[in-house]
Amino acid sequence: MHPTESPNIRGGHDQARPSIKTPLAYSGSLDSFNHKDLTPVIGREYTGLQIAQVLDAKDRDRLIKDIAITVSQRGVVFFRDQDVTHLQMKDFCERLSILAGCPSSSSLHIHPLTEEGSELGDQISVISSVKQKKGGGLTHQLSDTSRFASVGWHADITFEKVPSDYAMLKIHTLPETGGDTLWASGYEIYDRLSPPMAVFLEGLTATHDASFFHDEAVRLGTPLREIIRGSPLNHGSSLNAVHPVIRTNPVTGWKSVFVNKGFTKRINGITKDESDVLLNYLFNLVTQNHDAQVRFRWNKNDLAIWDNRSNWHCATYDYDETRVGDRVCSLGEAPYLDLDSKSRREWLSLA
Ligand SMILES: [Fe+2]
Repeated sequence: MHPTESPNIRGGHDQARPSIKTPLAYSGSLDSFNHKDLTPVIGREYTGLQIAQVLDAKDRDRLIKDIAITVSQRGVVFFRDQDVTHLQMKDFCERLSILAGCPSSSSLHIHPLTEEGSELGDQISVISSVKQKKGGGLTHQLSDTSRFASVGWHADITFEKVPSDYAMLKIHTLPETGGDTLWASGYEIYDRLSPPMAVFLEGLTATHDASFFHDEAVRLGTPLREIIRGSPLNHGSSLNAVHPVIRTNPVTGWKSVFVNKGFTKRINGITKDESDVLLNYLFNLVTQNHDAQVRFRWNKNDLAIWDNRSNWHCATYDYDETRVGDRVCSLGEAPYLDLDSKSRREWLSLA
């Protein structure tokens, strides 16, 4: 049933509903490429599959749609040794999001801290250890905040009314060792909730806030981008949004926990003390269950694509050398919960 027609839909926005009515089915077009699952619940790696060649393939759209479905099901997918350019990454990410059913109002995101006239254009975020050392990003290195490595767990740009469906990151400059990235599965964390706790959380929303980017913009001397940031619903100086605590991924139809340490400040409608306890519990489920995580050791020119609706990720700052990559982020639907949707494990047991 289409999200606008069902009485069991919570959240979402009329101007940003998914364009697909039911979860998507994988057609098998990637089966012949060499791949392995990195853990039972999250992560897959392909070797010998070039994203640039997919863009030129005769059955391009079928391949890209299958990549989208695979990313949404496995959470994050790694493609070794890619020759794709940043322009091709933009092209690919836009097609990936459209073929996976993003609303027609959604396109590639422009990060509020991306400088006007930046080197690779508005829609590429340069992920750079040089910038990081100036105190930027979620670890707030110049602020009085936790120094635990796990403080950086987040999903990208959830402070936007219409956040990201997919993100692609290619690392081209990296230290000999260090700089790994970790991802964790929101589907699996949902599956670890007791049924009464899951039902309770399904009735709640949370506020996501990135107001700290205002201070960072001042520090970096770059004005915050107040233009339309990839969706007409994402504009202006306010960097906060209210989203359901449990969210359905339209591509898989699976439920996921959708709060993150980086941006979620408050569960609404309960006391601050209750919100703090619940958020801490949910964040601990992510950071303390390494069997819901995958850790990726990058080689030069490896590329990762992940689904930000149902996964978190965390960088590792354990190196001194330069590490640089390019990231593209597409926007999906305004987050919603379909009470009729299933959990991943429920779906697998039925399948
Ligand atoms: Fe990120």
